[in-house]
Amino acid sequence: MVFPIERSRRLRRDSVTRSMVRENKVTMDDLILPLFVRSGVNLRNEIKSMPGCYHLSPDELRREVAECVELGVKSFILFGLPDEKDEVGSEAYAENGIVQQALAGLREEIGHSASLIADVCLCEYTDHGHCGVLVEDRGIVTVSNDPTLELLGRSAVSLAQAGADIIAPSDMMDGRIGRIREMLDANKFEDRPIMSYAVKYASAFYGPFRDAAESAPQKGDRATYQMDPANSREAIREALQDVDEGADIIMVKPALPYLDIIRQCRDTLLCPIAAYNVSGEYSMIKAGAAKGWIDGDRVGRETLLSIKRAGADLILTYFAKDAATWVKQGLL
Ligand code: PBG
Repeated sequence: MVFPIERSRRLRRDSVTRSMVRENKVTMDDLILPLFVRSGVNLRNEIKSMPGCYHLSPDELRREVAECVELGVKSFILFGLPDEKDEVGSEAYAENGIVQQALAGLREEIGHSASLIADVCLCEYTDHGHCGVLVEDRGIVTVSNDPTLELLGRSAVSLAQAGADIIAPSDMMDGRIGRIREMLDANKFEDRPIMSYAVKYASAFYGPFRDAAESAPQKGDRATYQMDPANSREAIREALQDVDEGADIIMVKPALPYLDIIRQCRDTLLCPIAAYNVSGEYSMIKAGAAKGWIDGDRVGRETLLSIKRAGADLILTYFAKDAATWVKQGLL
């Protein structure tokens, strides 16, 4: 059928008609808000490169989470900034680690009205800023894979003990999902899902996060463990491996520059797919809006919608609190 019989504009005549034929929708069920916790009292410091995001002390975090739940946010992922860092990231698996402490307080505050996800990685906790332990091999310093798995497993178990509902490993070591699953099960946490950062690229879009989490590598980069941005077949291989090892949810990260990868994962896998709308994606929008060059709220909504349309079931996004307001206003 061609014009004049077919007229696409008929279904765009008014907003009710448009909403009747709308194919994709972002809801609060889809969104996960990342939050940063560090020790202290009454601490609420805005992160310079991420307007609207804060370093929060545990008491402020409780207030923030309670407010977000009230607004409609249903899920949070926590990142910790420890007081002390060392070679092996001890604070990542310390019983009284900062995220472990925060989890206990949050559970008391909100009960089971929202899901508390714990990121598992060593980079915020090591003094060298890498996601695993370092070894020297023939004069070259590298991140040592297998010894790191034990530490990640310990971190996962300790976060589960502290009450994390979902464990989210972001380190990109080989075999970590299998090892973490084993260690969780051995400690009677067979009921805790793993959301794997399975497809995580070595991306410059993490820049503002590394300021926020104080986790930039002191030397070198993450290219020996995170994926090459040029690769897409490898993404599917990584995802399938993690599903085999026991991942319950597969994440693609970053989101916007990798919408094609999200779509391929959605079409290939049967498990839920999450996408991380990362710090750089957020900061660019905030910066453009602050300059008055774009409408930040509209671009934010379009961003979330595009990630959903690409096939993500879940979106980790610093816009989640804003989105709760947008949903209330009927804008999302
Ligand atoms: C830690 C981790 C990173 C992010 C989430 N977990 C940074 C990195 O790998 O350097 C990035 C999140 C963001 O940019 O918003 N491994």
